[in-house]
Amino acid sequence: MRSGGIAFFDSGVGGLSVLSACLKSVRGLPVYYYGDNARAPYGNRNIEEIRAYTHEAFSLFYRLGVSAVVVACNTVTALMIDELRATYSFPIVGIEPAILPAARKGGRVLVLATKATAESARLKRLTAVAQRRYQNVKIRTIPCAYLAEEIERACRCGALPSTFSLPRVEADGVVLGCTHYSLIKNRIAEFYGAEVFDGNDAVANRLRQLIAEEEKSRGNSGENLPKIGSFCASKKSLRRIHFFVEKRRKKARRFSLKKQACFWKLKNAQVLYFLGSGRVVNRQIYERMFAFR
Ligand code: DGL
Repeated sequence: MRSGGIAFFDSGVGGLSVLSACLKSVRGLPVYYYGDNARAPYGNRNIEEIRAYTHEAFSLFYRLGVSAVVVACNTVTALMIDELRATYSFPIVGIEPAILPAARKGGRVLVLATKATAESARLKRLTAVAQRRYQNVKIRTIPCAYLAEEIERACRCGALPSTFSLPRVEADGVVLGCTHYSLIKNRIAEFYGAEVFDGNDAVANRLRQLIAEEEKSRGNSGENLPKIGSFCASKKSLRRIHFFVEKRRKKARRFSLKKQACFWKLKNAQVLYFLGSGRVVNRQIYERMFAFR
């Protein structure tokens, strides 16, 4: 394993929900968050575009010398996780919609996903496995062509709208097949009056396991983990990112309660670098997203 921290990747802000679930797992390690906000959402794009944008992000991770990457995006996982694992030498954790845990509870299971994920062979395989295992469960997948974009836009303007374009169907359990949807998990639970499942905790567990295995194999108790400044990315952009993070830390004492939670997370993650589309983008979005949480 290389020793440059953990990178999280998504088309935009959705992966922040995964990052939030994983912050305890990455304690002590530098963290990069790459949201390709300039080109989000990915879900209605064709596979060639998604592949090209994803490889662009991954080549940056490669240059940064990261230890592992979390694909905090169901669309990219569904379309190309095998290709990514075959191309890059660092470990890659993907995210799967939590169809099995939802199906275990029985009843009508509704899977909400982007168009690309809903049409993917990977999602169809997972659904078939769940259907075979829990035969009296009814699983229905509905692509939500605009939902990720609505959430992305809401984050940009800093206010959640009163309604989102959620399909009006009855469900006993709702599976979030897109990490953007996790950012409005409570709204979705309220709308359907049903339990909502996402794959974020499973990703956090897998990442924790991966880091533990690595530390064990190196006989590392944590003290030799990489420190700030040991990266090989463009010094100028890292300095800017670092400055941003440090500024947030200093302001933390004046934050409201919600924002202190953000400070706590930043503190335990040691350093949190926001990257995006190859540059620091939409700093306000990240600030707002953490304020929402
Ligand atoms: N958040 C991503 C996902 O989990 C992508 C959504 C999009 O960009 O369409 O699928």
